[in-house]
Amino acid sequence: MRALTWQGRRDVRVETVPDPVVQDPTDIIVRITSSGICGSDLHLYEVLGPYLEPGDILGHEPMGIVEETGPEVTAVRRGDRVVVPFNVSCGACFMCDQGLQSQCETTQVRKYGSGAALFGYTKLYGQVPGGQAEFLRVPFGNTLPVKVPEGPPDDRFVYLSDVLPTAWQAVEYAAVPPGGSLTVLGLGPIGDMAARIALHRGAGTVIGVDLVPDRLRRAAARGVRVLDLREYGKGLGDAVRDLTDGRGTDAVIDAVGMEAHGGQVAKAGQWAVGKLPDPAARVLMERAGIDRLSALLAAVDMVRRGGTVSVSGVYGGAVDPLPLLKMFDKQIQLRMGQANVRHWVPAILPLLVDEDPLGVDGFATHHLPLADGPKAYETFQLKEDGMVKTLLTP
Ligand SMILES: NC(=O)c1ccc[n+]([C@@H]2O[C@H](COP(=O)([O-])OP(=O)(O)OC[C@H]3O[C@@H](n4cnc5c(N)ncnc54)[C@H](O)[C@@H]3O)[C@@H](O)[C@H]2O)c1
Ligand SMILES: [Zn+2]
Ligand SMILES: [Zn+2]
Repeated sequence: MRALTWQGRRDVRVETVPDPVVQDPTDIIVRITSSGICGSDLHLYEVLGPYLEPGDILGHEPMGIVEETGPEVTAVRRGDRVVVPFNVSCGACFMCDQGLQSQCETTQVRKYGSGAALFGYTKLYGQVPGGQAEFLRVPFGNTLPVKVPEGPPDDRFVYLSDVLPTAWQAVEYAAVPPGGSLTVLGLGPIGDMAARIALHRGAGTVIGVDLVPDRLRRAAARGVRVLDLREYGKGLGDAVRDLTDGRGTDAVIDAVGMEAHGGQVAKAGQWAVGKLPDPAARVLMERAGIDRLSALLAAVDMVRRGGTVSVSGVYGGAVDPLPLLKMFDKQIQLRMGQANVRHWVPAILPLLVDEDPLGVDGFATHHLPLADGPKAYETFQLKEDGMVKTLLTP
């Protein structure tokens, strides 16, 4: 089959690789019809290279048609239409029972002390082949895939794999009081969707921050009060306080993560990681603070006292310095983590109807063939051509 593979820093290629096969009796093989490119894939493209090997298949936002089922699969059949959550979670362990699928004890990557395995996401997360490919092997065929109806286009359902549950969890963890205020840092797919969900669920004011004009425009068109980071820079916290009676917003979502604009010192560290041989780079990442923290620091600054910071952006350093004095003094609540995808699906599915309250049908800015994947990664990283969300079609 054809698959998009990682080859090195800023180097992904579509190659011919062996087709996946059923290995366990509950496996299914899915013929992929749509597969998203995520901001998390950009971390693989740039910073997390030491944890990848040339040839690793990327992609964790796929959907498609069940092609084959293992002998013990009863929940889906060949021909069913399914979305695949990005956590590889068993659906039956202590963690899955509590809705913490990102911590699944059956697939935790203990060698690296990591939570549940993820599709297409580095050795830290199990080096599981991903879904930017023609076919994908999906374990736990009775509990993991989400069966969706025939009819509407893939765009209606594909974001159940990641964007929707991640944004939903970000809003849930932000715990905005009814009619309250929220700042969303980063208006990529995750921040944009989180802002939409927060407004849909009754937030009074949603402020969105980014530095890419078309992303700001896109959010503004849906009722978000946008602030351009380039205009405010270090004055961003004051700008947010000016809009909220001098207090800051009740909650802040960090939908930026480790490659934030504005963190020059750590940018040098990330650059060094990119240049070192893999084992040395891994040591540096595991012992040093390599994250560009400007978004997280801005969140701590602009949240009101007693408010909540909800982090969905991915961070990767082991000893990043945080302003604990300020965090303690402001009595901040901090929640974070990979999305527990399967957990939020029942709450979200009723919104994926023709009325389309979250605007999923028009959410993708680009639909491209898998063969154009390498170009799409480059364009997405550079934030050119109005690209916010790309769906690849194998
Ligand atoms: N927790 C999870 O389960 C989960 C799932 C999916 C994605 N993520 C993470 O969420 C983050 C966002 O993902 P995405 O797909 O929207 O990616 P993205 O890269 O498209 O979006 C990030 C946005 O942040 C903006 N930005 C950069 N620096 C900023 C700053 N200092 N202040 C405000 N905005 C800034 C960028 O211009 C960009 O628009 C990434 O870190 C990704 O890895 C986490
Ligand atoms: Zn993703
Ligand atoms: Zn589990």
